[in-house]
Amino acid sequence: MAANKQLHALVFLLSYLVTRPAWFGNGASSAAQEIRKGFSVTHDSSYSEFQSLLADPTGVFSLGFLRVDSSQLDLAVIHLPSSSALWRANPARPLLWSASASLSFDGSLVLSDSRTGVLWSTATADGDRLVLLNSSNLQIQKMAGAAATVLWQSFDFPSDTLVQDQNFTSTAALFSKDQRFSMRLGASYFALYMDLDGGSTPVMYWKHSALDVKVLIVPDEGPIYARVDAHGFLGMYQKEAAPVDVFPFDSFNREISGLRRLTLESDGNLRAYYWNGSIWVRDLETIAHRCELPAVCGAYGLCNSADSRCSCLDNSTEEGCLPPGSGHFCGDGGSEFRILRRNGVDLANQELVAYRKVASLEECEGSCEQNCSCWGAIYHNASGFCYPLDYPIQTLVEGDMRREGYFKVRVRTSGGGGGAGRTARVALLVVGSVVFAGAALFGAYSLWSRRRQMRAGMDGSMVEGLAPGSYKDLNSASFRSLELSNSFSLRK
Ligand SMILES: *[C@@H]1O[C@H](CO)[C@@H](O)[C@H](O)[C@H]1NC(C)=O
Ligand SMILES: *[C@@H]1O[C@H](CO)[C@@H](O)[C@H](O)[C@H]1NC(C)=O
Ligand SMILES: *[C@@H]1O[C@H](CO)[C@@H](O)[C@H](O)[C@H]1NC(C)=O
Ligand SMILES: *[C@@H]1O[C@H](CO)[C@@H](O)[C@H](O)[C@H]1NC(C)=O
Ligand SMILES: *[C@@H]1O[C@H](CO)[C@@H](O)[C@H](O)[C@H]1NC(C)=O
Ligand SMILES: *[C@@H]1O[C@H](CO)[C@@H](O)[C@H](O)[C@H]1NC(C)=O
Repeated sequence: MAANKQLHALVFLLSYLVTRPAWFGNGASSAAQEIRKGFSVTHDSSYSEFQSLLADPTGVFSLGFLRVDSSQLDLAVIHLPSSSALWRANPARPLLWSASASLSFDGSLVLSDSRTGVLWSTATADGDRLVLLNSSNLQIQKMAGAAATVLWQSFDFPSDTLVQDQNFTSTAALFSKDQRFSMRLGASYFALYMDLDGGSTPVMYWKHSALDVKVLIVPDEGPIYARVDAHGFLGMYQKEAAPVDVFPFDSFNREISGLRRLTLESDGNLRAYYWNGSIWVRDLETIAHRCELPAVCGAYGLCNSADSRCSCLDNSTEEGCLPPGSGHFCGDGGSEFRILRRNGVDLANQELVAYRKVASLEECEGSCEQNCSCWGAIYHNASGFCYPLDYPIQTLVEGDMRREGYFKVRVRTSGGGGGAGRTARVALLVVGSVVFAGAALFGAYSLWSRRRQMRAGMDGSMVEGLAPGSYKDLNSASFRSLELSNSFSLRK
């Protein structure tokens, strides 16, 4: 029994020693606690997950090259016990893990790649040193004797997370890891937005306003900022003394000594956590109902509030719902569309969306039909409110049958119709045919020349000719890319 235990301990120790250094590289403890001018290091891809470059005084946080989504690379500050990234330098444009990235500090901290050059920089010409504080804040400081002035700090440029005591101002924004969702601070509120392409402004899907704004928020008394407080809330402040608003977490006012963080996650939900010594304990889930997540069922999806199940607005079940760009018409040469109507659908963020009072369903639909920037509309029969949707349709919720949904859906493939839409398609067809004919000619030519080479007794193993799938591929893949590039250029 005892021998068995010892064996276990030995195996554990060995596996610890084998896996641990791979994760942490040469060990967080041996990473520098300060980086001075002249520092330069290149990414070493033999570290499997994280190459530590700088440590904080407590050894809890570390700055280094982090592997992201198995194939990408970013500069990050991580919480070592959980290996979660609290800050990332360049989340919108991460590098490939295989890229030859380097980090240098010469007054300014610069992340570059040998092929593309500078990718990210703090643009602080005269910093003297780079330090990681025990709060996870990375700072570039200018020294004057023993006194340090902060020229730049990572706390001012959050990625998807705010940690305890980090000030969040209206000049900053949190972006979910996939960059689809953001959190911003307004004059007296903070809100969550969905960023959609199609040239539209981000759509607000959740908002928290400070209570009793008029009493507490004095105009011209300095900006509002928000901060995760150690007592378990997100406070909005105008002056340091007292918060003008308290947005409590589950552990509000309970004695928790672990680090707290607030993260905007890739499903669009904002969640708070605290570190209990072994796991991140969830402490807040801002959007409690799944159907209220703006994209939970994807584009043209429909969420059932009773069981949170997803379906499609057009009842299609196979191949998913309609493609996200189905309602994009502005500048697209007056493409034809058909109308999809569906009763009993509603917006989860109804109270945040602008509406108009109209006399009838026809008026609501008509105003949308004639406006190319309108993707659809929802009409409330009881109140006469018309909600135009001037952005790509995402998930709607099933609701009262008196709510009538109207959606403009592009008519795909050829067929009837006319006008500019047809001209555009004809042009695409011509371009596509030319590309196809060119490819076919080229294929025939290479086949012919290879045959000739073969006959001449040269390398015969290379005979491939046109692969059987070429015709089909050309028809779908390259044709689609033509269409895509077309609508992309028109959108701009
Ligand atoms: C972090 O550093 C500050 C000052 O630099 C110090 O007051 C505080 O006690 C430190 N906290 C921890 C957890 O070490
Ligand atoms: C947050 O803002 C307050 C008030 O301006 C300031 O006193 C404090 O030092 C700031 N904290 C950080 C980490 O920048
Ligand atoms: C942290 O939470 C987990 C799961 O609830 C629990 O198993 C663990 O004991 C907790 N750790 C501490 C130090 O409280
Ligand atoms: C989809 O199914 C629902 C319920 O079965 C039905 O009321 C609705 O008319 C259908 N919609 C379409 C567009 O087929
Ligand atoms: C079209 O819709 C957009 C967004 O709803 C609106 O701002 C614009 O004024 C409308 N244009 C016309 C001509 O009605
Ligand atoms: C809409 O309201 C009108 C009158 O307010 C009523 O006659 C009509 O039946 C309602 N339609 C639906 C689908 O509920």
